[in-house]
Amino acid sequence: MNREVTEKAPAKINLTLDVLHKREDGYHELEMIMTSVDLADHVTLRTINEDTIIIQSNNGFLPLDHRNHAYKAAKLIKETFNIQLGVEMMINKNIPIAAGLGGGSSDAAATLRGLNHLWDLGLSLDELALLGAEVGSDVPYCIYGGTAFASGRGEKIEQLVAVPQCWVVLVKPKKGISTGTVFNALAYDTLEHPDTHSMLTAIKEQNYLDMTKLVGNSLEETSINRQPSIETIKQKMVSFGADAALMSGSGPTIFALCRKYSRAQRVYNGLKGFCNEVYLVRTLK
Ligand code: C5P
Repeated sequence: MNREVTEKAPAKINLTLDVLHKREDGYHELEMIMTSVDLADHVTLRTINEDTIIIQSNNGFLPLDHRNHAYKAAKLIKETFNIQLGVEMMINKNIPIAAGLGGGSSDAAATLRGLNHLWDLGLSLDELALLGAEVGSDVPYCIYGGTAFASGRGEKIEQLVAVPQCWVVLVKPKKGISTGTVFNALAYDTLEHPDTHSMLTAIKEQNYLDMTKLVGNSLEETSINRQPSIETIKQKMVSFGADAALMSGSGPTIFALCRKYSRAQRVYNGLKGFCNEVYLVRTLK
């Protein structure tokens, strides 16, 4: 009998992203604090008898082959556990692609969680996260979701208490940015370094005001140089009343944090006329 499961794959934002240094393996040593928001893809997985991986999506821009992180995740789990069955998956995309919101990584994490269930592998979240690290640096975080501190190349995860709940306005400028391109263009001497330690304290103490003051991203300047509209959007968000505005991940999506719904609506309406892809969501508990 063919079995089917649907997994939710939420987007994330980076409250902080600090680049410590470039490593010998070519990756960068990072410290990041991430939190999930209620904008999500849905990944439906159906186990089939043919030994193949088939992906479909409602989004015509999504690669459906080995370039897709969910494909890589399915292939890895099949090979690791010598599974002769196949899988048919439908990825319902709501998270913008190449946006800095971790959509591809979250789809991969959902695939690992779903196949663990469908194929009765009995793997723990920690074991799934170890597999996820082979697919991409952000996949282990997406296995757990919620609020977390990530270090190493992003794959070492420490779960945190949820951030004080607030509204989040996401604005995705039209052109995407490739993560690798941003990391390759970094000017190390002038990098901004967020105060990760103080942000950890603010979250622990549930201090929303401090949290909004401490957001920061080492990659932002480099991405703004490539796409100056990121800076324009940040300024607009603040002028419409956002408590904080920052680029997420390697961009180009910018998020605004607002405690009050009325403020978030003002930011949303103000940016809607300027950009096509604007979302009003919340942090997840
Ligand atoms: O791990 P992932 O495949 O998602 O990373 C994409 C690209 O981002 C890498 O090829 C690398 O260029 C860059 N990267 C990095 N340091 C990290 C994570 C990613 O340089 N910690």
